[in-house]
Amino acid sequence: MKEKADIGLIGLAVMGENLVLNMESKGYTVAVYNRTVEKVDTFVNGRGKGKNFIGARSLEEFVVSLKRPRKVMMLVKAGKPVDDFIEKLIPLLEPDDIIIDGGNSHFPDTVRRTKYAESKGLLYVGAGVSGGEEGALKGPSMMPGGSPEAWIHVKKIFQDIAAKVDDGTPCCDWVGEDGAGHFVKMVHNGIEYGDMQIINEAYHLMKELLGMDAFEQHEVFKKWSTGKLDSYLIEITRDILAYKDEDGNPLVEKILDTAGQKGTGKWAAVTALDLGIPLTLIGESVFSRCLSAQKDIRIKASKTIIGKKPAFKGDKQQFINDLEQAIYASKIISYAQGYDLMMEAAKEYNWNLNYGGIALMWRGGCIIRSVFLGDIEKAFRNNPKLENLLFDSFFKNAVETAQESWRRVCATALENGIPVPALTSALSYFDGFRNDRLPANLLQAQRDYFGAHQYERIDKPRGEFFHTDWTGRGGSTASSMYQV
Ligand code: 6PG
Repeated sequence: MKEKADIGLIGLAVMGENLVLNMESKGYTVAVYNRTVEKVDTFVNGRGKGKNFIGARSLEEFVVSLKRPRKVMMLVKAGKPVDDFIEKLIPLLEPDDIIIDGGNSHFPDTVRRTKYAESKGLLYVGAGVSGGEEGALKGPSMMPGGSPEAWIHVKKIFQDIAAKVDDGTPCCDWVGEDGAGHFVKMVHNGIEYGDMQIINEAYHLMKELLGMDAFEQHEVFKKWSTGKLDSYLIEITRDILAYKDEDGNPLVEKILDTAGQKGTGKWAAVTALDLGIPLTLIGESVFSRCLSAQKDIRIKASKTIIGKKPAFKGDKQQFINDLEQAIYASKIISYAQGYDLMMEAAKEYNWNLNYGGIALMWRGGCIIRSVFLGDIEKAFRNNPKLENLLFDSFFKNAVETAQESWRRVCATALENGIPVPALTSALSYFDGFRNDRLPANLLQAQRDYFGAHQYERIDKPRGEFFHTDWTGRGGSTASSMYQV
Protein backbone atom coordinates (compact mmCIF):
# COMPACT_ATOMS: atom_id res chain seq x y z
CA MET A 1 0.00 0.00 0.00
CA LYS A 2 1.18 3.50 -0.84
CA GLU A 3 2.33 5.78 1.97
CA LYS A 4 -0.37 8.23 3.05
CA ALA A 5 0.05 11.91 2.36
CA ASP A 6 0.96 14.47 5.01
CA ILE A 7 -1.25 17.09 3.40
CA GLY A 8 -3.49 17.39 0.37
CA LEU A 9 -4.02 20.26 -2.02
CA ILE A 10 -7.00 21.04 -4.17
CA GLY A 11 -6.39 23.41 -7.07
CA LEU A 12 -3.41 22.90 -9.32
CA ALA A 13 -3.30 26.37 -10.83
CA VAL A 14 -0.06 28.32 -10.77
CA MET A 15 0.02 28.98 -6.99
CA GLY A 16 -1.12 25.48 -6.06
CA GLU A 17 1.35 23.74 -8.29
CA ASN A 18 4.28 25.72 -6.93
CA LEU A 19 3.17 25.40 -3.34
CA VAL A 20 2.96 21.60 -3.50
CA LEU A 21 6.39 21.42 -5.12
CA ASN A 22 7.66 23.52 -2.23
CA MET A 23 6.02 21.15 0.31
CA GLU A 24 7.42 18.08 -1.40
CA SER A 25 10.90 19.57 -1.50
CA LYS A 26 10.74 19.89 2.30
CA GLY A 27 10.13 16.15 2.65
CA TYR A 28 6.36 15.98 2.70
CA THR A 29 4.21 13.59 0.73
CA VAL A 30 1.42 15.59 -0.87
CA ALA A 31 -1.88 14.44 -2.34
CA VAL A 32 -3.14 16.56 -5.21
CA TYR A 33 -6.55 16.99 -6.74
CA ASN A 34 -8.01 19.33 -9.32
CA ARG A 35 -11.58 19.83 -10.54
CA THR A 36 -10.40 19.31 -14.09
CA VAL A 37 -8.84 15.92 -13.37
CA GLU A 38 -6.55 15.92 -16.44
CA LYS A 39 -4.51 18.60 -14.69
CA VAL A 40 -3.64 16.05 -11.99
CA ASP A 41 -2.18 13.66 -14.57
CA THR A 42 -0.37 16.44 -16.36
CA PHE A 43 1.20 17.56 -13.11
CA VAL A 44 2.08 14.16 -11.67
CA ASN A 45 3.64 13.11 -14.98
CA GLY A 46 5.21 16.51 -15.57
CA ARG A 47 6.70 18.80 -12.93
CA GLY A 48 5.79 16.32 -10.23
CA LYS A 49 7.30 13.26 -11.91
CA GLY A 50 9.37 11.01 -9.67
CA LYS A 51 8.41 13.00 -6.61
CA ASN A 52 6.31 12.20 -3.56
CA PHE A 53 2.91 13.13 -4.91
CA ILE A 54 -0.28 11.14 -4.80
CA GLY A 55 -2.47 12.15 -7.72
CA ALA A 56 -6.15 11.66 -6.91
CA ARG A 57 -8.79 11.32 -9.58
CA SER A 58 -11.74 11.96 -7.27
CA LEU A 59 -12.30 13.80 -4.01
CA GLU A 60 -13.03 10.46 -2.30
CA GLU A 61 -9.72 9.03 -3.44
CA PHE A 62 -8.03 12.26 -2.39
CA VAL A 63 -9.48 12.22 1.14
CA VAL A 64 -8.63 8.55 1.87
CA SER A 65 -5.05 9.15 0.80
CA LEU A 66 -4.47 11.57 3.69
CA LYS A 67 -3.03 10.91 7.15
CA ARG A 68 -5.30 11.84 10.05
CA PRO A 69 -6.13 14.43 11.14
CA ARG A 70 -6.45 15.19 7.46
CA LYS A 71 -5.15 18.51 6.25
CA VAL A 72 -6.93 19.59 3.09
CA MET A 73 -5.69 22.81 1.59
CA MET A 74 -7.67 24.59 -1.12
CA LEU A 75 -6.06 27.02 -3.51
CA VAL A 76 -9.07 27.79 -5.62
CA LYS A 77 -10.70 31.02 -6.77
CA ALA A 78 -12.11 33.03 -3.87
CA GLY A 79 -15.89 33.03 -3.46
CA LYS A 80 -18.30 30.29 -4.48
CA PRO A 81 -15.68 27.67 -5.44
CA VAL A 82 -14.45 27.67 -1.83
CA ASP A 83 -17.96 27.12 -0.45
CA ASP A 84 -18.62 24.44 -3.05
CA PHE A 85 -15.52 22.46 -2.08
CA ILE A 86 -16.32 22.80 1.63
CA GLU A 87 -19.75 21.30 0.98
CA LYS A 88 -18.23 18.42 -0.97
CA LEU A 89 -15.55 17.78 1.66
CA ILE A 90 -17.76 17.79 4.76
CA PRO A 91 -19.36 14.36 4.16
CA LEU A 92 -15.96 12.85 3.39
CA LEU A 93 -14.06 14.20 6.38
CA GLU A 94 -14.05 13.08 10.00
CA PRO A 95 -13.98 15.03 13.28
CA ASP A 96 -10.88 17.19 13.80
CA ASP A 97 -9.86 17.02 10.16
CA ILE A 98 -8.71 20.41 8.93
CA ILE A 99 -9.86 22.40 5.91
CA ILE A 100 -7.41 25.10 4.88
CA ASP A 101 -8.24 27.92 2.47
CA GLY A 102 -5.02 29.38 1.09
CA GLY A 103 -6.67 31.71 -1.41
CA ASN A 104 -7.40 35.44 -1.23
CA SER A 105 -10.75 35.01 0.50
CA HIS A 106 -12.64 37.94 1.93
CA PHE A 107 -12.25 37.74 5.70
CA PRO A 108 -15.99 37.83 6.60
CA ASP A 109 -16.34 34.68 4.48
CA THR A 110 -13.58 33.07 6.51
CA VAL A 111 -15.28 34.09 9.77
CA ARG A 112 -18.47 32.43 8.51
CA ARG A 113 -16.72 29.33 7.16
CA THR A 114 -14.74 28.78 10.37
CA LYS A 115 -17.97 28.74 12.37
CA TYR A 116 -19.61 26.47 9.84
CA ALA A 117 -16.75 23.96 9.69
CA GLU A 118 -16.52 23.92 13.47
CA SER A 119 -20.26 23.27 13.69
CA LYS A 120 -19.58 20.14 11.65
CA GLY A 121 -16.85 18.99 14.04
CA LEU A 122 -14.04 20.08 11.71
CA LEU A 123 -11.27 22.61 12.10
CA TYR A 124 -10.77 25.47 9.68
CA VAL A 125 -7.79 27.58 8.66
CA GLY A 126 -7.98 30.67 6.46
CA ALA A 127 -4.42 31.39 5.46
CA GLY A 128 -3.22 34.39 3.52
CA VAL A 129 -0.42 33.31 1.21
CA SER A 130 1.70 35.94 -0.47
CA GLY A 131 4.63 35.95 -2.82
CA GLY A 132 3.25 35.06 -6.21
CA GLU A 133 4.48 32.13 -8.24
CA GLU A 134 8.09 32.32 -7.14
CA GLY A 135 7.18 32.82 -3.49
CA ALA A 136 4.91 29.80 -3.53
CA LEU A 137 7.76 27.66 -4.84
CA LYS A 138 10.66 29.02 -2.83
CA GLY A 139 8.99 30.28 0.31
CA PRO A 140 5.91 32.46 0.64
CA SER A 141 4.81 34.62 3.52
CA MET A 142 1.92 32.84 5.23
CA MET A 143 -0.69 34.38 7.48
CA PRO A 144 -2.87 31.64 8.99
CA GLY A 145 -5.92 32.18 11.19
CA GLY A 146 -9.02 30.17 12.00
CA SER A 147 -9.69 27.44 14.57
CA PRO A 148 -6.84 27.79 17.12
CA GLU A 149 -6.70 23.99 17.68
CA ALA A 150 -5.68 23.56 14.05
CA TRP A 151 -2.41 25.46 14.42
CA ILE A 152 -0.48 22.72 16.19
CA HIS A 153 -1.25 20.37 13.28
CA VAL A 154 -0.27 22.70 10.44
CA LYS A 155 2.46 24.71 12.12
CA LYS A 156 5.39 22.56 11.09
CA ILE A 157 4.45 22.21 7.44
CA PHE A 158 3.59 25.90 7.13
CA GLN A 159 6.76 27.11 8.82
CA ASP A 160 8.90 24.64 6.85
CA ILE A 161 7.64 25.92 3.51
CA ALA A 162 7.48 29.62 4.42
CA ALA A 163 10.17 32.17 3.60
CA LYS A 164 12.76 32.72 6.32
CA VAL A 165 14.34 35.98 7.41
CA ASP A 166 18.10 36.28 7.92
CA ASP A 167 18.16 34.63 11.35
CA GLY A 168 16.03 31.74 10.09
CA THR A 169 12.73 32.92 11.57
CA PRO A 170 9.89 31.76 9.33
CA CYS A 171 7.62 34.37 7.78
CA CYS A 172 4.61 32.51 9.12
CA ASP A 173 2.98 32.47 12.51
CA TRP A 174 -0.51 32.08 13.92
CA VAL A 175 -2.41 35.32 13.37
CA GLY A 176 -5.61 34.75 15.32
CA GLU A 177 -9.10 33.34 15.34
CA ASP A 178 -11.49 32.86 12.43
CA GLY A 179 -10.90 35.53 9.76
CA ALA A 180 -7.76 37.11 11.29
CA GLY A 181 -5.34 35.54 8.79
CA HIS A 182 -7.30 36.64 5.77
CA PHE A 183 -7.84 40.06 7.33
CA VAL A 184 -4.10 40.54 7.70
CA LYS A 185 -3.59 39.34 4.14
CA MET A 186 -6.18 41.87 2.97
CA VAL A 187 -4.25 44.65 4.75
CA HIS A 188 -1.06 43.31 3.16
CA ASN A 189 -2.68 43.64 -0.25
CA GLY A 190 -3.98 47.13 0.53
CA ILE A 191 -0.46 48.15 1.50
CA GLU A 192 0.77 46.49 -1.70
CA TYR A 193 -1.62 48.76 -3.65
CA GLY A 194 -0.29 51.76 -1.71
CA ASP A 195 3.39 50.93 -2.22
CA MET A 196 2.77 50.43 -5.93
CA GLN A 197 0.85 53.70 -6.26
CA ILE A 198 3.61 55.65 -4.48
CA ILE A 199 6.19 54.19 -6.86
CA ASN A 200 3.97 54.94 -9.84
CA GLU A 201 3.67 58.57 -8.78
CA ALA A 202 7.46 58.83 -8.51
CA TYR A 203 7.78 57.34 -11.99
CA HIS A 204 5.19 59.79 -13.33
CA LEU A 205 7.01 62.76 -11.80
CA MET A 206 10.39 61.70 -13.13
CA LYS A 207 8.91 61.12 -16.56
CA GLU A 208 6.61 64.12 -16.98
CA LEU A 209 8.33 66.69 -14.83
CA LEU A 210 12.01 65.81 -15.13
CA GLY A 211 11.71 64.36 -18.63
CA MET A 212 13.57 61.19 -17.72
CA ASP A 213 13.16 58.07 -19.85
CA ALA A 214 12.72 54.59 -18.40
CA PHE A 215 16.40 53.70 -18.71
CA GLU A 216 17.44 56.84 -16.82
CA GLN A 217 14.84 56.06 -14.17
CA HIS A 218 16.21 52.54 -13.93
CA GLU A 219 19.44 54.07 -12.56
CA VAL A 220 17.51 55.97 -9.88
CA PHE A 221 15.60 52.86 -8.80
CA LYS A 222 18.85 50.93 -8.78
CA LYS A 223 20.22 53.38 -6.24
CA TRP A 224 17.00 53.38 -4.23
CA SER A 225 17.00 49.60 -4.09
CA THR A 226 20.15 49.66 -1.99
CA GLY A 227 18.99 52.32 0.46
CA LYS A 228 16.14 52.74 2.90
CA LEU A 229 13.58 52.05 0.16
CA ASP A 230 15.12 48.62 -0.44
CA SER A 231 12.14 46.38 -1.15
CA TYR A 232 10.86 43.82 -3.59
CA LEU A 233 8.58 46.32 -5.34
CA ILE A 234 11.41 48.84 -5.84
CA GLU A 235 13.59 46.02 -7.19
CA ILE A 236 11.04 44.79 -9.71
CA THR A 237 10.38 48.39 -10.80
CA ARG A 238 14.13 48.84 -11.36
CA ASP A 239 14.14 45.74 -13.55
CA ILE A 240 10.93 46.59 -15.39
CA LEU A 241 12.32 50.01 -16.33
CA ALA A 242 15.41 48.42 -17.89
CA TYR A 243 13.46 45.81 -19.84
CA LYS A 244 13.68 46.33 -23.60
CA ASP A 245 11.04 45.42 -26.13
CA GLU A 246 12.15 43.77 -29.38
CA ASP A 247 12.88 47.15 -30.93
CA GLY A 248 15.20 48.07 -28.07
CA ASN A 249 12.82 50.58 -26.52
CA PRO A 250 11.50 50.22 -22.96
CA LEU A 251 8.60 47.78 -22.88
CA VAL A 252 6.92 49.62 -20.03
CA GLU A 253 6.13 52.59 -22.29
CA LYS A 254 4.15 50.35 -24.63
CA ILE A 255 1.82 49.03 -21.96
CA LEU A 256 -1.70 50.44 -21.89
CA ASP A 257 -2.20 52.66 -18.84
CA THR A 258 -5.34 51.02 -17.44
CA ALA A 259 -4.89 49.22 -14.14
CA GLY A 260 -6.61 45.97 -13.26
CA GLN A 261 -7.56 44.85 -9.79
CA LYS A 262 -9.02 41.74 -8.24
CA GLY A 263 -10.61 43.47 -5.27
CA THR A 264 -8.47 42.95 -2.18
CA GLY A 265 -7.37 46.61 -2.10
CA LYS A 266 -10.99 47.66 -2.41
CA TRP A 267 -11.92 45.35 0.47
CA ALA A 268 -9.29 47.04 2.64
CA ALA A 269 -10.65 50.49 1.79
CA VAL A 270 -14.28 49.46 2.33
CA THR A 271 -13.41 47.80 5.64
CA ALA A 272 -11.64 50.99 6.72
CA LEU A 273 -14.77 52.99 5.91
CA ASP A 274 -16.85 50.48 7.86
CA LEU A 275 -14.56 50.70 10.88
CA GLY A 276 -14.08 54.47 10.64
CA ILE A 277 -10.32 54.37 10.05
CA PRO A 278 -8.64 56.95 7.79
CA LEU A 279 -6.91 54.56 5.40
CA THR A 280 -6.48 57.40 2.96
CA LEU A 281 -3.42 56.32 1.02
CA ILE A 282 -4.77 52.89 0.21
CA GLY A 283 -8.15 54.41 -0.65
CA GLU A 284 -6.49 56.82 -3.08
CA SER A 285 -4.52 53.94 -4.56
CA VAL A 286 -7.70 52.02 -5.32
CA PHE A 287 -9.36 55.12 -6.81
CA SER A 288 -6.25 55.82 -8.88
CA ARG A 289 -6.63 52.41 -10.47
CA CYS A 290 -10.29 53.22 -11.13
CA LEU A 291 -9.40 56.55 -12.78
CA SER A 292 -6.73 54.87 -14.89
CA ALA A 293 -9.33 52.39 -16.10
CA GLN A 294 -11.51 55.24 -17.43
CA LYS A 295 -9.20 55.52 -20.40
CA ASP A 296 -11.69 56.57 -23.09
CA ILE A 297 -13.09 59.49 -21.17
CA ARG A 298 -9.60 60.55 -20.14
CA ILE A 299 -8.61 60.67 -23.80
CA LYS A 300 -11.61 62.84 -24.50
CA ALA A 301 -10.85 65.11 -21.55
CA SER A 302 -7.22 65.42 -22.53
CA LYS A 303 -8.33 66.91 -25.83
CA THR A 304 -10.76 69.42 -24.40
CA ILE A 305 -9.69 70.49 -20.92
CA ILE A 306 -6.74 72.82 -20.64
CA GLY A 307 -4.60 72.27 -17.58
CA LYS A 308 -1.10 73.03 -16.52
CA LYS A 309 1.85 71.83 -18.60
CA PRO A 310 4.73 70.58 -16.47
CA ALA A 311 7.77 72.86 -16.59
CA PHE A 312 10.44 72.00 -14.09
CA LYS A 313 12.60 74.75 -12.73
CA GLY A 314 15.22 73.70 -10.26
CA ASP A 315 17.88 71.16 -9.54
CA LYS A 316 16.96 67.76 -10.97
CA GLN A 317 19.18 65.76 -8.62
CA GLN A 318 17.86 67.65 -5.62
CA PHE A 319 14.32 66.79 -6.71
CA ILE A 320 15.21 63.11 -7.05
CA ASN A 321 16.68 63.18 -3.55
CA ASP A 322 13.52 64.85 -2.28
CA LEU A 323 11.47 62.23 -4.06
CA GLU A 324 13.22 59.43 -2.20
CA GLN A 325 12.30 61.15 1.07
CA ALA A 326 8.73 61.74 -0.07
CA ILE A 327 8.31 58.07 -0.98
CA TYR A 328 9.74 57.01 2.34
CA ALA A 329 7.55 59.32 4.40
CA SER A 330 4.42 58.37 2.47
CA LYS A 331 5.22 54.73 2.95
CA ILE A 332 5.51 55.26 6.70
CA ILE A 333 2.08 56.91 6.69
CA SER A 334 0.61 54.07 4.66
CA TYR A 335 1.86 51.46 7.12
CA ALA A 336 0.78 53.59 10.08
CA GLN A 337 -2.71 53.65 8.55
CA GLY A 338 -2.68 49.93 7.79
CA TYR A 339 -1.68 49.14 11.35
CA ASP A 340 -4.37 51.50 12.62
CA LEU A 341 -6.89 49.46 10.65
CA MET A 342 -5.61 46.19 12.12
CA MET A 343 -5.77 47.61 15.64
CA GLU A 344 -9.35 48.68 15.19
CA ALA A 345 -10.30 45.32 13.65
CA ALA A 346 -8.67 43.51 16.56
CA LYS A 347 -11.01 45.39 18.91
CA GLU A 348 -14.03 44.86 16.71
CA TYR A 349 -13.48 41.14 16.11
CA ASN A 350 -11.75 40.19 19.37
CA TRP A 351 -8.48 39.22 17.77
CA ASN A 352 -5.29 39.30 19.76
CA LEU A 353 -3.05 40.42 16.91
CA ASN A 354 0.71 40.38 17.35
CA TYR A 355 1.76 43.48 15.41
CA GLY A 356 5.49 42.84 15.54
CA GLY A 357 4.84 39.25 14.47
CA ILE A 358 2.84 40.49 11.48
CA ALA A 359 5.75 42.73 10.41
CA LEU A 360 7.98 39.69 10.67
CA MET A 361 5.61 37.64 8.51
CA TRP A 362 5.78 40.44 5.91
CA ARG A 363 9.54 40.83 6.24
CA GLY A 364 10.22 38.10 3.68
CA GLY A 365 8.46 36.10 1.00
CA CYS A 366 5.59 38.47 0.29
CA ILE A 367 5.08 41.22 -2.27
CA ILE A 368 5.58 44.07 0.24
CA ARG A 369 8.76 42.58 1.71
CA SER A 370 11.31 45.23 2.56
CA VAL A 371 14.07 46.27 4.90
CA PHE A 372 11.59 48.77 6.31
CA LEU A 373 9.45 45.98 7.81
CA GLY A 374 12.39 45.06 10.03
CA ASP A 375 12.10 48.56 11.54
CA ILE A 376 8.37 48.11 12.08
CA GLU A 377 9.01 44.82 13.84
CA LYS A 378 11.56 46.60 16.06
CA ALA A 379 9.08 49.37 16.86
CA PHE A 380 6.50 46.86 18.13
CA ARG A 381 9.17 44.83 19.91
CA ASN A 382 10.17 48.00 21.78
CA ASN A 383 6.55 48.77 22.57
CA PRO A 384 3.95 46.08 21.85
CA LYS A 385 1.24 48.58 22.83
CA LEU A 386 2.36 51.24 20.34
CA GLU A 387 -0.78 53.21 19.44
CA ASN A 388 0.51 54.53 16.13
CA LEU A 389 3.72 53.94 14.20
CA LEU A 390 4.35 57.70 14.23
CA PHE A 391 4.84 57.55 18.00
CA ASP A 392 7.84 55.27 17.60
CA SER A 393 10.98 57.41 17.83
CA PHE A 394 12.57 55.89 14.71
CA PHE A 395 9.56 56.60 12.51
CA LYS A 396 8.81 59.95 14.13
CA ASN A 397 12.35 61.11 13.35
CA ALA A 398 12.22 59.64 9.87
CA VAL A 399 9.04 61.53 8.96
CA GLU A 400 10.21 64.73 10.59
CA THR A 401 13.48 64.53 8.66
CA ALA A 402 11.72 63.79 5.38
CA GLN A 403 9.10 66.46 5.90
CA GLU A 404 10.60 69.41 3.98
CA SER A 405 11.51 67.26 0.96
CA TRP A 406 8.09 65.67 1.02
CA ARG A 407 6.36 69.06 1.02
CA ARG A 408 8.55 70.31 -1.83
CA VAL A 409 7.72 67.26 -3.95
CA CYS A 410 3.98 67.58 -3.34
CA ALA A 411 3.95 71.33 -3.94
CA THR A 412 5.98 71.00 -7.14
CA ALA A 413 3.72 68.23 -8.42
CA LEU A 414 0.59 70.27 -7.72
CA GLU A 415 2.07 73.39 -9.31
CA ASN A 416 2.91 71.41 -12.42
CA GLY A 417 -0.38 69.59 -12.74
CA ILE A 418 0.90 66.08 -12.07
CA PRO A 419 -1.46 63.94 -9.99
CA VAL A 420 0.11 62.54 -6.84
CA PRO A 421 -2.88 61.42 -4.76
CA ALA A 422 -0.92 58.97 -2.61
CA LEU A 423 1.91 61.34 -1.76
CA THR A 424 -0.41 64.27 -1.03
CA SER A 425 -3.05 62.32 0.87
CA ALA A 426 -0.30 60.89 3.07
CA LEU A 427 0.98 64.40 3.75
CA SER A 428 -2.52 65.67 4.52
CA TYR A 429 -3.05 62.78 6.90
CA PHE A 430 0.24 63.59 8.60
CA ASP A 431 -0.75 67.24 8.99
CA GLY A 432 -4.18 66.25 10.27
CA PHE A 433 -2.84 63.64 12.66
CA ARG A 434 -0.32 65.96 14.29
CA ASN A 435 -2.87 68.77 14.70
CA ASP A 436 -4.80 68.96 17.95
CA ARG A 437 -7.42 71.25 16.43
CA LEU A 438 -9.04 70.49 13.10
CA PRO A 439 -11.87 72.47 11.53
CA ALA A 440 -14.48 69.93 12.59
CA ASN A 441 -15.81 72.50 15.07
CA LEU A 442 -17.23 74.36 12.08
CA LEU A 443 -18.50 71.12 10.64
CA GLN A 444 -20.32 70.35 13.86
CA ALA A 445 -21.82 73.84 13.80
CA GLN A 446 -23.02 73.27 10.23
CA ARG A 447 -24.59 69.95 11.19
CA ASP A 448 -26.31 71.55 14.13
CA TYR A 449 -27.44 74.52 12.00
CA PHE A 450 -29.23 72.53 9.35
CA GLY A 451 -30.19 69.39 11.22
CA ALA A 452 -30.02 70.08 14.97
CA HIS A 453 -27.38 67.34 15.20
CA GLN A 454 -25.80 68.88 18.33
CA TYR A 455 -22.20 69.50 19.27
CA GLU A 456 -19.89 69.17 22.24
CA ARG A 457 -18.10 72.25 23.62
CA ILE A 458 -14.44 72.71 24.45
CA ASP A 459 -15.40 74.33 27.75
CA LYS A 460 -17.69 71.50 28.87
CA PRO A 461 -17.03 67.81 29.64
CA ARG A 462 -17.01 65.31 26.76
CA GLY A 463 -20.36 63.59 26.29
CA GLU A 464 -22.42 66.69 27.03
CA PHE A 465 -24.27 67.81 23.90
CA PHE A 466 -25.66 71.20 22.93
CA HIS A 467 -27.99 72.56 20.33
CA THR A 468 -28.27 76.16 19.23
CA ASP A 469 -31.16 77.78 17.42
CA TRP A 470 -28.78 79.41 14.92
CA THR A 471 -31.41 81.31 12.93
CA GLY A 472 -33.90 82.13 15.61
CA ARG A 473 -36.43 80.30 13.46
CA GLY A 474 -35.74 76.77 14.69
CA GLY A 475 -37.20 74.96 17.64
CA SER A 476 -35.31 73.67 20.64
CA THR A 477 -35.67 69.98 19.70
CA ALA A 478 -32.36 68.32 18.93
CA SER A 479 -31.89 65.43 16.55
CA SER A 480 -31.34 62.06 18.18
CA MET A 481 -27.77 60.73 18.32
CA TYR A 482 -27.14 57.68 16.24
CA GLN A 483 -24.62 56.36 13.77
CA VAL A 484 -25.42 54.45 10.65
C1 6PG B 1 0.35 38.41 -3.12
C2 6PG B 1 -0.53 39.31 -3.99
C3 6PG B 1 -1.63 38.55 -4.64
C4 6PG B 1 -2.59 39.41 -5.44
C5 6PG B 1 -2.00 40.01 -6.66
C6 6PG B 1 -2.99 40.68 -7.60
O1 6PG B 1 0.41 38.73 -1.94
O2 6PG B 1 0.96 37.47 -3.62
O3 6PG B 1 -1.10 40.28 -3.18
O4 6PG B 1 -2.34 37.92 -3.61
O5 6PG B 1 -3.63 38.64 -5.85
O6 6PG B 1 -1.01 40.90 -6.32
O7 6PG B 1 -3.74 41.67 -6.99
P1 6PG B 1 -4.56 42.69 -7.88
O8 6PG B 1 -5.01 41.98 -9.11
O9 6PG B 1 -5.72 43.15 -7.05
O10 6PG B 1 -3.62 43.80 -8.21
